[in-house]
Amino acid sequence: MAKKTIRDVEWAGKRALVRVDFNVPQDDSGAITDDTRIRAALPTIRYLIEHGAGVVLMSHLGRPKGKVNPKYSMRPVVERLFELLPEASEVKKTEAITGPAAEAAAGSVGPGQVLMLENTRFDPREEKNDPEMAAELAKLGDVFVNDAFGAAHRANASTEGVAHHLMGVAGLLLEKELAFIGGALEDPARPFVTIIGGAKISDKIGVIDNLLGKVNALLIGGGMANTFLLAMGKNMGDSLIEPESVEVARGLIAKAEAAGARLILPVDAVIADAFSASANTKTVSVDAVPAGWRILDIGPETAKIYAAEVRGAKTVIWNGPMGVFEMEPFAKGTFAVATAMADASALGAITIIGGGDSVAAIEQAGLADKMSHVSTGGGASLELLEGKVLPGVAALADK
Ligand code: 3PG
Repeated sequence: MAKKTIRDVEWAGKRALVRVDFNVPQDDSGAITDDTRIRAALPTIRYLIEHGAGVVLMSHLGRPKGKVNPKYSMRPVVERLFELLPEASEVKKTEAITGPAAEAAAGSVGPGQVLMLENTRFDPREEKNDPEMAAELAKLGDVFVNDAFGAAHRANASTEGVAHHLMGVAGLLLEKELAFIGGALEDPARPFVTIIGGAKISDKIGVIDNLLGKVNALLIGGGMANTFLLAMGKNMGDSLIEPESVEVARGLIAKAEAAGARLILPVDAVIADAFSASANTKTVSVDAVPAGWRILDIGPETAKIYAAEVRGAKTVIWNGPMGVFEMEPFAKGTFAVATAMADASALGAITIIGGGDSVAAIEQAGLADKMSHVSTGGGASLELLEGKVLPGVAALADK
């Protein structure tokens, strides 16, 4: 890790201003439906408490677009945090984000105490990375800690700007995410296999392009495979395709050949006569998709090939489902990859789930705890896989 972390700071008597990503899903009543991101920040908060620091937490929640909106208040998050953190002598919340009220609340935070500011995105200056807001936030602590991996791709006042006013160090979650994902990209144990899925190739061109220079094999699934198959001259029937990306797909196929990476595409598919869980379905070769039918999952032969590739790997990164796994008839391909990832872990491989829908899939499969690492960042892990520098990391102090 080229950046300083919380282990490089003497915390006794100091106040840590900690950016976390507590952007958690909630139901219509505001109840938190998945607290993974809150749990993931606990090691950092505990470390700070144990080392004598007071902790001021800041996060965004949802996209309130610079306006105060009770729907996106941090209140339910604070309540859950208090349940999860009995060792904190107190977990308080303030309605303020910056200014005299926030400074007074932060000033009263002693060792072992935790204060959560209100949603940073209630302030329109947050997403503009306004330097004044960053300077005001910096008054709330002695050292800035970024543990918000999920928001590290956003250059906001609380993720990036603040580090220009206070020394910034990485929290333990940020460090772990970078160690797994960054480590795999820089110096992977080989064979290094990645599985990229999802609906659209246009969302992941940068990721595929960057990975082709690094991996031994790249397996493509999900709707995006259709555009590659189309580029190879196959008839895709009524499948989702992106005609404007056919040339890009051809270019990626050529790049894979030049880089000596095996770009592996589906050989068969589960097709349906409608986008519906109750549609008629059948399994066909990718050379035989009839008009009026659409591909909604990889087929069993492809699943077998992909599973064998994953089981034979020493490093695997998976991002994006193989089909419409939310509908039971089109979930088998995604779950076959999930199972193969668990097998690969058992065989000693480093297995990484790179955020987004594949996290939901691995959780649905009940296999999340079998992975070496399940990322808490969707957009952030995609940008890392694309080879981009995350602004929230770049702004931290070098070791
Ligand atoms: C996420 O959920 O991916 C992060 O919290 C970032 O949220 P955003 O996409 O609204 O910036």
